Amino acid sequence: ALLNVRFLTLVTYSHRCFCPAELIENMDKKATWDRFYTENSSRTSTFKNFEWFFGFDAVRDFIIPLLQSKPHPDGLLQVLDMGCGTSALGPCIYRHSPLPVRVTCADISPIAVRLMQEQVQTKALRAHSFSSQLEFVELDCTQLHTRYGCRSVDLIVDKGTTDALLRSKEGKRKASLVLQQCLKVLRSSGSLLQFSDEDPDARLLWLETEAQEPGVMAADVGVQEVGELRGMTYYCYQVTPRSIV
Ligand SMILES: C[S@@+](CC[C@H](N)C(=O)[O-])C[C@H]1O[C@@H](n2cnc3c(N)ncnc32)[C@H](O)[C@@H]1O
Repeated sequence: ALLNVRFLTLVTYSHRCFCPAELIENMDKKATWDRFYTENSSRTSTFKNFEWFFGFDAVRDFIIPLLQSKPHPDGLLQVLDMGCGTSALGPCIYRHSPLPVRVTCADISPIAVRLMQEQVQTKALRAHSFSSQLEFVELDCTQLHTRYGCRSVDLIVDKGTTDALLRSKEGKRKASLVLQQCLKVLRSSGSLLQFSDEDPDARLLWLETEAQEPGVMAADVGVQEVGELRGMTYYCYQVTPRSIV
């Protein structure tokens, strides 16, 4: 309950909207997000990216170093923004990655995906590398295996998506599934970054428990502080798959 109150306060302050408890309890549901993005986009006639917590500038120093030196057979680093919403995070990674990337921005809400597709069509985004690619797809991230093969992704970023699942009434199982899927599709050199306001005491324990299955999967888990914003501390949790002997 404390977490929910804290989250409600955050949403109210940062996005100047009233999000009823019902919305918070149902943040694992597609219908909740379809409604959220529909209402949000109807408020203004011009599109504006909606950022959960903060935008790319706050987290670029966690992301860009992971895209510096990974030689790759097909030449493109595979990056997934999981539960992208209408955030500019994915497009910013596409623009600022020093190496050629394919950035896939995936969300369960087709409304968010359509808004982003329309937005990039009207803007000529320039990447560092000519061969970089940016795409927006409707995808339930509990089903990552339907889109990605095992060990095919270099970096997964998750800004607020696992938080949303963990805080909703029936989303905890989905959050575990998403984590397991991430560990399956990540390369051994790859990482999952979760940006969150959840306290390390709780999140590290959850990650360490959910990312281990004897003989099946294991992972190293670390945390760094992103910083403080409006009196709230934010964290970057890094999960890297460990090979099973
Ligand atoms: C808290 S919002 C964060 C949005 C965005 N990452 C940002 O930083 O603004 C959570 C997002 O996760 C998406 N989502 C929830 N469940 C999902 C699922 N199973 N698969 C993919 N996306 C999901 C929602 O549609 C929503 O856009």
